[in-house]
Amino acid sequence: ARRCAHNPAFSHLNTVTEEDVAHFSNILAPSSVFSTIGSNSVSSNDIATYNVDWMGKYYGKATTVLRPRSTAEVSEIVKWCAKRKIGIVPQGGNTGLVGGSISLDKEIVLSLGAMSKVRSFDPVSGILVADAGCILQSLSEYVAPHNHIMPLDLGAKGSCQIGGNVSTNAGGLRLLRYGTLHGTVLGLEVVLPDGTILDQLSTLRKDNTGYDMKQLFIGAEGTLGVVTGVSILTPPAPQASHNVMLALPRYDNVLPLFQTVRRQLGEILSSFEYIDRTAYDMAIDHGHSRIFNEEELKSTQCFVLVETSGSNKEHDEQKLTELLESLLTAAKPLIVTGTLSQSAAQFASLWALREGLTEAVQKEGKPYKYDISVPIADFQRVVDVLRDQLKSRGLYGDHAVSKVMGYGHVGDGNLHINVIAKHGYAPEIEQALEPFIYEVVASLNGSVSAEHGLGSMKPHALHYSKSNVSIDWMRKIKGTFDPLNIMNPGKVLP
Ligand code: FAD
Ligand code: MLT
Ligand code: ZN
Repeated sequence: ARRCAHNPAFSHLNTVTEEDVAHFSNILAPSSVFSTIGSNSVSSNDIATYNVDWMGKYYGKATTVLRPRSTAEVSEIVKWCAKRKIGIVPQGGNTGLVGGSISLDKEIVLSLGAMSKVRSFDPVSGILVADAGCILQSLSEYVAPHNHIMPLDLGAKGSCQIGGNVSTNAGGLRLLRYGTLHGTVLGLEVVLPDGTILDQLSTLRKDNTGYDMKQLFIGAEGTLGVVTGVSILTPPAPQASHNVMLALPRYDNVLPLFQTVRRQLGEILSSFEYIDRTAYDMAIDHGHSRIFNEEELKSTQCFVLVETSGSNKEHDEQKLTELLESLLTAAKPLIVTGTLSQSAAQFASLWALREGLTEAVQKEGKPYKYDISVPIADFQRVVDVLRDQLKSRGLYGDHAVSKVMGYGHVGDGNLHINVIAKHGYAPEIEQALEPFIYEVVASLNGSVSAEHGLGSMKPHALHYSKSNVSIDWMRKIKGTFDPLNIMNPGKVLP
C-alpha cells in the first residue's frame, strides 16, 4: 500500500492499490466491486454518483466502491481495511445534506444498497428487523399491509436507507408524535472498525442490562462502525389522518398558535410544520397547488401545516373543525385563514408542498443549509438577521443570494434556513454566513445541527454547541472504537 500524500489530515491512511482491489474481488462477488484501479477497472464516470452528494456541493475522490451483500462480507472488507489502513466511508442513499457520505481523500465508499432484505416482522408487536440498506419507503410499504407505519418520515424517503437514517439520527415529519430514533430503535447490528460484528439486534422493548451501546451508533454518521442491521418499533397506522394549512398574519403568532393547537388537539396532533412566506411563494413558483387566494395572502406572513392522526375519523374532524372555528372567531385571531384538506388528494397536496421545499430550493440555485435548533420565538428573527447580514455585505439580490428562507419542524424547535446562491457557491457568500450564523445560534443556546448531523460541513462548528469536555469525551469514544481512524475520517470531530 502506498502512502497518500494529498491531504495531511489523511496521511495516516493508505491509497487503494491493485492488490487491495484484487482482495476485494476475492471476498465479494465481482459485480460488487467497482474500481478505477486494477484489471477490471471501470471509468470514474461509472462511480460518479457515489462521489457527489445530493446537493452537488461535495465532490468525493473515491477510486473504489464496494457493494457487499451480507454482514459477513462487510466484516471481511473492514478487517482488510483495518489491516491495510484504508479509510472507509459508509454510504446509504447518499441523501445526507452535510457531506458525510462522501470520500474526502482516498477512502473507499462502502455502499449498503445491496443489503436490502427484511429479516423479520412481528405484526403483533410491530417490531421490524431489516438490513441497513433497506430504503425507508420500501419499509413503509412492507409494513403497510399489516396496518403499521415507520416511526419516521422524510422527504428523502424514496432514496434514504434505514441504516443512513439511524446513522444520522434522522428526525423528519413525524418526530413530534413518535419521538426520535433513540427511542424507536430497539437494537442494531454493527461491524466495528476492526471488523468484529457487534450483534445487538434486540427485539426487546425493555433491556436495562448495563450501558446501552446502540445509542452511540445512532447519529454517529458512520464514524464508529458500519450499521448492517436495524431492529425498530413500528407504530400501528392511524385510522384517520387529516391536515390543515394555516395562514398567519405575523410570525409572533406561531408560538401562541402552537400552544393553542396542542391544547385543543391533544393526543391527535401529529405534525406542526412551519413554512415562511418566501418558501411558500417559491413552492408555488415551482408548480405546487395554490392553497390561498391573493386577498388572503396580502395579510399573510407565514404558514403552519398541522396534521392529526387518530383512531376515529368523526371525532378528529370535529376537533379540527372546532379548532379552526375558534381560531377564526377569536377576539384577536391568530390566523388569517386556514384550508382543511377535504380528500386524500388534498391531504397529499398539502404535504407535497411542505416536503417539496428541499427539491424546489435545489432548483433555485445552490443552497447553503443551516439546520438549527433555537427557541421557537426566535425562528424568524434568525432568518431576518442572516438576510440583513448578506445585505450589509452587498450580497443580497439576484447577482448573489436571491433568497433567504426558513421552514422546518417548528413543533420540535428545529428551523431549516436555506440561503440560495443563485449563481453557485462562492467564498464571499460563505464567509458572510459563517461563522456568523453559528455565533447567532450559540448566543441563543441553540444547536448548530438539529437533525442533519455534522458530516464534513460542520466539525469545525461543533464547539458552538458542545463544551470542550464533551468534545474531549467524544474523541475518547472515537479513539476507543476506531484507534486507527479509518471509519469515515474527517467527519463529525474537528
Ligand atoms: P447517507 O446520505 O448515505 O449518509 C449519511 C451519513 O450516514 C454519512 O455520514 C454516512 O457515512 C452515514 N451512513 C449511511 N449509512 C450508514 C450505515 N449503514 N452505517 C454507518 N454509517 C452510515 N434529514 C432529517 O433528519 N429530516 C428530514 O426531514 C430530512 N428531509 C430530507 C429531505 C430531502 C429531500 C433530502 C435530500 C434529505 C433530507 N434529510 C432529512 C437528510 C437525509 O435524508 C437524512 O439525513 C437521511 O437519514 C440520510 O440517509 P441516507 O441513507 O441517504 O444516508
Ligand atoms: C426538511 O425538513 O425538509 C429536511 O430536513 C430537508 C431540508 O432541510 O431541506
Ligand atoms: Zn427537516
